[in-house]
Amino acid sequence: MEKREELYRGKAKTVYLTDDSDKLVLYFRNDTSAFDGEKIEQLDRKGEVNNKFNHFIMTKLEEAGIATQLESLISDTESVVKKLDMIPVECVVRNVAAGSLVRRLGVEEGKLLDPPLFEFFLKNDALHDPMVNDYHIESFGWATKAQVARMKELTFAVNDVLKALFDEGGMILVDYKLEFGVDSDGNIILGDEFTPDGCRLWDKTTRNKMDKDRFRQGLGSVVETYIEVADRLGLKL
Ligand code: C5P
Repeated sequence: MEKREELYRGKAKTVYLTDDSDKLVLYFRNDTSAFDGEKIEQLDRKGEVNNKFNHFIMTKLEEAGIATQLESLISDTESVVKKLDMIPVECVVRNVAAGSLVRRLGVEEGKLLDPPLFEFFLKNDALHDPMVNDYHIESFGWATKAQVARMKELTFAVNDVLKALFDEGGMILVDYKLEFGVDSDGNIILGDEFTPDGCRLWDKTTRNKMDKDRFRQGLGSVVETYIEVADRLGLKL
């Protein structure tokens, strides 16, 4: 399989076409962005760490029966993925209050959310990813009612697998964002990535932040902490 021209350049990853019309290459760059791209820095080794971390987590999810876009690692910073027709919404599950939920509703950071919350956001940088609900998604034709139901079901299935995985490593999975796409057979498949860039992880005892909040809040040791997260899960980076 050969890498061809660039298809799309996101804030942290670049997507390339390949000579196989069903496959793409994801290139994880060192770029780290926050606040809709207002803060951007290059962090040494971040592309490699996220590429390998994503492969590790997606493999765990596949083993648990959740279909993902990922096919294989092809270099330190690149993976081959199946081409999907991406649904332009972000699916967020929250087990503990943090981030935009705290700002929006004035609840206390750290409040346990039982049952966990589910939120949809429209992927639109210019509009700052506004929150939307099932009706917006169906009415504007971003996904069907059945696809909305499936995205929720899969996002909660991921929660069961990953809450337990991070718990074993002494971490709390506070919240996370997933994106889905549709394959050529019409199946909803987990796409994009799962890395500490797109979730919140707290140390179970100290409540230290072990995710992209370290970058957002200028806490330092961003990549070093991602490597520690991987290490606690049994992945040496
Ligand atoms: O900012 P907010 O609290 O809504 O984020 C919820 C979760 O979704 C966090 O783990 C955050 O890292 C992730 N997220 C993301 N990409 C976005 C928005 C949120 O990965 N564009």
